[in-house]
Amino acid sequence: MAIYSTIDLPESYSDLDQTLNSADLILSDAVANATTLFHTPVVSSFDGTNINSRVMVLREFSLQDRIMRFHTDQRAPKIQHYSSNSICSVLGYDPELKIQIKLKGKITTHHNNDVTKTAWDESTPRSKKCYSVKGGSSKAINNPSKYDIKKVSVEEGYQNFAVLIFSFDSLEFLYLKGSGHRRALHKWDEDHSASWLVP
Ligand SMILES: Cc1cc2nc3c(=O)[nH]c(=O)nc-3n(C[C@H](O)[C@H](O)[C@H](O)COP(=O)(O)O)c2cc1C
Repeated sequence: MAIYSTIDLPESYSDLDQTLNSADLILSDAVANATTLFHTPVVSSFDGTNINSRVMVLREFSLQDRIMRFHTDQRAPKIQHYSSNSICSVLGYDPELKIQIKLKGKITTHHNNDVTKTAWDESTPRSKKCYSVKGGSSKAINNPSKYDIKKVSVEEGYQNFAVLIFSFDSLEFLYLKGSGHRRALHKWDEDHSASWLVP
């Protein structure tokens, strides 16, 4: 067994359940474990014309509910994009593990409701501070130093705080190994189904 952080993963994969179990362990661990690159996966969405990708901090993962939670600024243009095009893909790879996980699904946005209240209350003052930046995310500016966050009352940032809930219906697992790569696709339509793919 390879030991990575607090999780034990198989050295080789011979059945599909193992791949889903490892993905569950990795992504559950990644919420609190900033040393794995799965803590900061790439979240991609479609704005109607272009695909947009960005790194985001994974705040919650539940295989049982098939969700991931991310936090962002309500003023960011992507909030509007998610309303018109909710499809989304989340991708992570960790070279220590030699495992890539790709998920596909849809994003719903939350602002000023029970979901954001709970997430805000669980956030650290350091995380909360980002939402006090003036002017809103992605605005073109002349002088970035004017937007450095200095003395603020962090709680005021709540009005700009948004939660993204990503609900996935497919999870692809790829394990790179010299003796033979292993690639598995898990899908949830009515029920869960899984198959190996040519790597
Ligand atoms: C390590 C790291 C973590 C980040 N975490 C977040 C995050 O949790 N939420 C977020 O909105 N942006 C996060 N960002 C910034 C985004 O990658 C992106 O630059 C920003 O959201 C603007 O992207 P957009 O134009 O697609 O909205 C992070 C960037 C890095 C490098």
